[in-house]
Amino acid sequence: MRLKGKSAIVTGAASGIGRAIAKKFATEGAHLVTADIDGSTAETVAEEIRADGGTAHSIATDITKRGDVYAMTDTAIDYFGKVDVLVNNAGSRIVKPILDHSEDDWQRMLDVNLTGHFHCCQAVLPHMLAAGFGRIVNVASIAGSVGRPNRIGYVAAKGGTLAMTRALAADMAGKNITVNALAPGMIASPMNQAVKENPDFGDNWNNDNLVRRWGKPEDVAGIAAFLASDEASFITGETINVDGGSIAALIRRGE
Ligand SMILES: NC(=O)c1ccc[n+]([C@@H]2O[C@H](COP(=O)([O-])OP(=O)(O)OC[C@H]3O[C@@H](n4cnc5c(N)ncnc54)[C@H](O)[C@@H]3O)[C@@H](O)[C@H]2O)c1
Repeated sequence: MRLKGKSAIVTGAASGIGRAIAKKFATEGAHLVTADIDGSTAETVAEEIRADGGTAHSIATDITKRGDVYAMTDTAIDYFGKVDVLVNNAGSRIVKPILDHSEDDWQRMLDVNLTGHFHCCQAVLPHMLAAGFGRIVNVASIAGSVGRPNRIGYVAAKGGTLAMTRALAADMAGKNITVNALAPGMIASPMNQAVKENPDFGDNWNNDNLVRRWGKPEDVAGIAAFLASDEASFITGETINVDGGSIAALIRRGE
């Protein structure tokens, strides 16, 4: 058990990648706070973890609201007395051409996918600094490193997450607090349900990566557990692409 006795907050834990990370952390011995804007499903995930013998408490949290984020942090402190690990996973995506993006759409993408993660870092860091230990894992996207069409706000925010990861790692130099990012490729989560069911994309997208399959939420969860574990204590300011090699090589259809 690589995370035995660690207190971990996972945002966006009600669905997809966040749910898989929360469950993986529980099997590694961590005590969980499952936080999500969808509080009732976050509680279902916490119930599932408890049913499997783990420890988990849920809290309805909108990461764009600082009050919610501080209440989320207090939940971990109240139950577990510390926050060892923060996984900034909550996110959402607007897909439409740039000229159809309203100012609100743009702002929403920055608020959920970047500023919300900043709020969470600011809320937990005083506890990590006081304890002299912390692991922050930011779930970004390969869209933070390469351009993707029709996602201008999302891509800009994910690029910001990668930059914030490096900057915060530098701020935490010598504090025994590491800050790293994961950049998933195409993962078969509810966020991608419509793409996966679209016959024009669907299984064809397997051919766009080198492993030749859709990623699973569990593929990402294993790397998150590694980054939160002692095995990764000499890694900080880093991004690991969990994308089946999507951006390692330029693959054209038919190759
Ligand atoms: N699925 C992919 O292919 C893929 C690829 C790259 C990056 N990602 C990133 O992975 C993360 C998880 O995505 P997923 O695929 O599991 O999506 P998902 O839609 O299945 O889950 C996202 C979760 O975040 C929650 N959420 C949304 N806004 C929130 C807010 N303001 N406050 C708190 N919770 C909020 C949702 O309720 C949901 O439970 C996201 O940051 C996403 O951008 C996913």
